Amino acid sequence: MEFFLDTADVDEIREIAAWGILDGVTTNPSLIKKSGRDFKQVVAEIASICSGPISAEVTALDTEGMIEQALVLKDELPDNVIIKIPCTPEGLAATKALTDKGIKTNVTLIFSSSQALMAAKAGATYVSPFIGRIDDTGHEGMNLIAEIMTTWDNYPEITTKVLAASIRHPTHVLQCIQLGAHTATMPAKIFRQLMKHPLTDKGIDGFMKDWADVEAAGNA
Ligand code: G3P
Repeated sequence: MEFFLDTADVDEIREIAAWGILDGVTTNPSLIKKSGRDFKQVVAEIASICSGPISAEVTALDTEGMIEQALVLKDELPDNVIIKIPCTPEGLAATKALTDKGIKTNVTLIFSSSQALMAAKAGATYVSPFIGRIDDTGHEGMNLIAEIMTTWDNYPEITTKVLAASIRHPTHVLQCIQLGAHTATMPAKIFRQLMKHPLTDKGIDGFMKDWADVEAAGNA
């Protein structure tokens, strides 16, 4: 499974990239706003920190505008930047056109398995179902991941990766793993939570104390 960071904060990206297991980064207009930085500059810096796919989102809502923005981003930013496109009819058409040009895409704001399937048919490299935002409406977001994975099982010719997004807690990630989602994008806080275990900390503490005694006895 691929683990992506969902942030435009380069300090967080550096921190998690240093662990050696970061596969990519996703951004969106809200995360760019939160960074307070110039869009292209911050995406270029992210792409220099992490060599995996870095999603940069188009903001045009018409097909031609999306394609135009995507081509500028591909021209001006490093090769590992991929184009994030909203799941609309116009976005589907842009996804198809960019796929035909060999440009990788991440179709975002997916809330149904029919949207995911249509984005896959358009050639999307990734589809991003938003789990947490479905949970927020009082429904079970993880059911969407299950439904999409069943659809993918029924049509083995689909090569689009399912990128679980809007992840709010570590259990979301564990459930995605059980369901076979290809990728999860999550905030740095969840990376840290996934690695933290009190028994690991307690175990290290005990080993360090005993090792200090071994050293004191001159046996190290
Ligand atoms: O990057 C898209 C997605 O992960 C956003 O998550 O927390 O704003 O619903 P959230």
